[in-house]
Amino acid sequence: MRGTAPTPGDDMTVRVMTYGTFDLLHVGHVSLLSRARALGDELVVAVSTDEFNATKGKGAYFPWSERAAMVAALRCVDRVVPEHRWEQKAHDVVRLGVDVLVMGDDWVGRFDELRALCDVVYLPRTPGISTTRIKQDLVA
Ligand code: CTP
Repeated sequence: MRGTAPTPGDDMTVRVMTYGTFDLLHVGHVSLLSRARALGDELVVAVSTDEFNATKGKGAYFPWSERAAMVAALRCVDRVVPEHRWEQKAHDVVRLGVDVLVMGDDWVGRFDELRALCDVVYLPRTPGISTTRIKQDLVA
């Protein structure tokens, strides 16, 4: 007997999801998101909340509302949701009917346990750029 909650594979849409802070939006972010979108039909992006970043010791320059608005404005992004905690990924995959989880290759192997629920793809990062580096260059 099937429940009423949406599950991966219930429709023909291939839903891709990824996670990140996306502060000081840069070309590495846009490249990751456009390659993620190309793996399916819809891209859902979970943008880390300011509170979650604080628990990671990672401060963002732009608040969540502005980071989320910029990510949502990209043509390759269909939906933005908040990322509140590390553990929400499995729940999101089931709740949102995610078929493919995409992460940058700085996370290789870290989310392999989710392969029980969906495909997990690690995409190469764009070399030479990061939010951390932009911040450092601006104060140099
Ligand atoms: N990303 C990427 N290429 C880069 C920078 C980031 O593909 N040059 C990807 C990351 O792998 C991640 C997503 O973009 O999947 C969001 O990364 P985020 O941590 O928000 O960006 P960074 O620029 O890496 O930020 P920081 O320096 O603060 O870690």
